[in-house]
Amino acid sequence: MKETLQDIRTRRSCRKFQPRQIAEEELNAILEAGTWAPTGHGWQSPVMVVLQDKATIEKLSKMNAAIMGTNGDPFYGAPTVVVVLADKSRPTYREDGSLVMGNLMLAAHAVGVASCWIHRAREEFESEEGKALLKSWGIEGDYAGVGHCILGYAAENGEAPAKPRKEGYIIRV
Ligand SMILES: Cc1cc2nc3c(=O)[nH]c(=O)nc-3n(C[C@H](O)[C@H](O)[C@H](O)COP(=O)(O)O)c2cc1C
Repeated sequence: MKETLQDIRTRRSCRKFQPRQIAEEELNAILEAGTWAPTGHGWQSPVMVVLQDKATIEKLSKMNAAIMGTNGDPFYGAPTVVVVLADKSRPTYREDGSLVMGNLMLAAHAVGVASCWIHRAREEFESEEGKALLKSWGIEGDYAGVGHCILGYAAENGEAPAKPRKEGYIIRV
């Protein structure tokens, strides 16, 4: 239990990665943790799409950057990108997908893999290009993008220290 609380405190977003791929065993442990996230009614509305192919990651990175209006790589060169989508027909799909994202990031930290939530998945998969990608991945139905969990081994200074927790975060009534 102490270890869980320590992992929650010490997980940080990483924005600089080593180019080498993460170990398959670590990836599987992270993905399994994603599947154990709680979901509304236990419907398990999310799916996780694992991308490790450079060309596909680059394509998605370009789509993401275009939404932001920049030319940089929003995935920071991470060798693995897990796209979390969720079935819009379930009323809790966004919360379900967000909890999967949380589990992925915490599990990554627990096994020594660095991560970061990268946004704009919703816009990506609302586009025709995004819908075509979903189809090519065999995803049928009305799925919304929730987030990308980028994964890799942290490069030096890849993780910024945490800011202090704000005053008034906890309100006890
Ligand atoms: C919903 C959400 C969207 C985020 N989107 C991005 C993003 O697009 N790019 C990025 O570099 N970080 C993104 N982050 C990471 C946050 O900036 C980061 O969690 C925050 O600065 C706190 O830092 P920490 O994760 O190290 O505690 C996102 C985080 C969340 C929860």
